[in-house]
Parts: sequence; C-alpha cells; structure tokens
Amino acid sequence: MTGVELFMKDQIKQIEGQALAEIASAGDAAAVEALRIKYLGRKGVVADLFKKMGGLAPAEKPGAGQLLNALKNAITKAIDEKSVGSAGEEAGEKLDVTLPGISIHQGRIHPVIKTIYEICDIFISMGFKVVEGPEIETEHYNFEALNIPLEHPSRDAFDTFYLKATSPTSKYLLRSHTSPVQARFMEKNKPPFSILVPGKVYRPDATDASHSFMFHQVEGLAVAGDIHFSDLKGALTAFAKQMFGKNTRMRFRPSFFPFTEPSAEVDISCILCSGVQSTEYREQKRCSLCGGKGWLEILGAGMVNPKVFKNVGYDPEKVTGFAFGMGVERIAILKYGIEDIRMFFENDVRFLRQF
Ligand code: PHE
Repeated sequence: MTGVELFMKDQIKQIEGQALAEIASAGDAAAVEALRIKYLGRKGVVADLFKKMGGLAPAEKPGAGQLLNALKNAITKAIDEKSVGSAGEEAGEKLDVTLPGISIHQGRIHPVIKTIYEICDIFISMGFKVVEGPEIETEHYNFEALNIPLEHPSRDAFDTFYLKATSPTSKYLLRSHTSPVQARFMEKNKPPFSILVPGKVYRPDATDASHSFMFHQVEGLAVAGDIHFSDLKGALTAFAKQMFGKNTRMRFRPSFFPFTEPSAEVDISCILCSGVQSTEYREQKRCSLCGGKGWLEILGAGMVNPKVFKNVGYDPEKVTGFAFGMGVERIAILKYGIEDIRMFFENDVRFLRQF
C-alpha cells in the first residue's frame, strides 16, 4: 500500500465513523435527510472525495476507488435503515404481536357444481367423457333433430324461452334441456362413444320451492354397435348406488320421450324412509320426502330412437344406444335434504357454507 493510500484509508475510516454516529443520533426524518445530502449529495462529502481522487497517480486510483465505494455503501445502508425505522416510529407503528390475525374467508364450491362433479366422477369411472354444448340453441337441435314435432306442447312459447333473433333456417331459443348436445355430438363423431353433458337449461316456469326458470341437467348418451336396455339399467343402478348409498333400489316406469324408444322414468327408493320402515308405517306417517310413496323420481331415460340416429346420419340398423337426463338441483335436494330450490340461487353464505 502506498503512502497516499494509507493516508486516504485513515481519512475515510474517520469520515465513516463520524457519518455513522451522526446518522445513528439523527432525531427525525428531516435530520436523516439532511445527513443524506451532507454525505451523499451531489456536492457532499463523498462526491468531494471522488473528485479529489482525480489528482492521484494512475496506479493509486483503483485502490482509492474501492475504498470510496465501500464508504458510500456503508453510509447509504445506514441511512436507508434509519429511514425505515424512523418512518414507522413517527407514525406510531409498533408491532403488536398480540393482535388477532386477519381471517381469510375461504370460498367453497357451489353445491350445484359440487353435485355435477359428483355425478360426472361416477360416470367417468364407467368410461364416459364430458362434453358441453351451447345454451343458446336453435329450434332445430332443441326439437327437430330430437324428433319433437311442431305440435308438441314443449315447443309452445309458454314452455320455452324463444329469442327474438332468428337465422335463415331456424329460430333461436334458450335450450330447455341438454339433449340437443346429443344431436350436435353425433353429427361430428362416430360411435362407439359414451358422453356426459352437464349444463344449464331454461324454462319459463313460475319460481317456487321446486321450480326455477334456470336449472342444471346432466345428460348421458352411449352409442355403439350393440347396446341394450340392460346396459342402461346397469349404468344407472351403479350410479344411484354410488350417489345415494349401496342399499338404494331402482324402479323403471314406462314413459314417453320423442327421442327415446322405449322410454322410462327412473325412481330410487326413498332415501329417508324406504328400506327402514314398513309400507304401513310410510303410508300412515307420510314421509316428508316421498309423501309415503317410497320412491323418488330422479331422471328420464331410454333407448335412442332410430329416428334420431337417422337425423344425424347414422344407420339405425348398425348402431344402438341409450340416453338419460337428470336434474342436478333435484339430485342435490334429495341427497342433501334441501327444502327449496331457490336456496341454490340466493347466494346466502349461511346456506352455501354448509357444503
Ligand atoms: N331431456 C329430457 C328432459 O329434459 C330428459 C331425457 C334425456 C329423457 C335423455 C330421455 C333421454 O326431460
């Protein structure tokens, strides 16, 4: 180390000691700011030393530069730390470790969506895959492709929300069931397949404890070379046992849908009274869930009508299939003992938090 460097080193040490002491004893933010200008300002002590460095011999410059940079960093650090501390103290901010924490409100999955997930999981485990379709539908897919004739009551404006817009070939409407996705999917895909279609549907019903103008359905459709009614029964029985408990029994009642033939309405044994009480008991006590009948209707189903296959360009001689459609709110109401469908849509967190 040269003599000049030694001298500078001493001088810098001294300045550093003084600066740090002054910063430490600064009483408020203004005093700290004044020290920042004194030492780090454009005309401050450090800048002045850098200027003096210009007069040193070339060999001495690097060493001196290092020393000055270290000084500048030390003062900067001391001022920064002091600033943070004094800002907090001035605002009267002291850390109170005894304060209760801020609780975070955790959101939950809505019971309707949760029920859709549960339904889908069961059918996915049987090999179904989930697809979706549009909520704004054409009259063609909602009705015609599904063999629902013009004079059918569900095509009345009282039973379907029609939109003002029309296309050259079809009227637009809010789909009244998820079945139109059957036709949409079949037009674009070749069997074999089994699909599941969850989604919203709309019907202009007056709202009450069991009706809503919007609700959710899950549609199922399986098409292959050789599908039988027994496959439908097997799939739905497996579903009901997983959804409502392994002792659940099924009842298939003959019914009618234009797009399935034969068609059935499917009931499960009442999850509140059936299997645990005698028929006499049920009839006398009038179970609050099934009204003493012992059965609860959960869905509509059937074998795909050959006319629907023709409409989508399949050969009804070569393929068969089954379809079913269930109301999600209805399933959730039964499974969770909910009394009023409106509770799903009122956004009352006291209700939603329970799922
Ligand atoms: N789409 C029918 C409804 O909404 C239900 C259904 C679907 C029936 C599939 C049979 C087959 O009522």
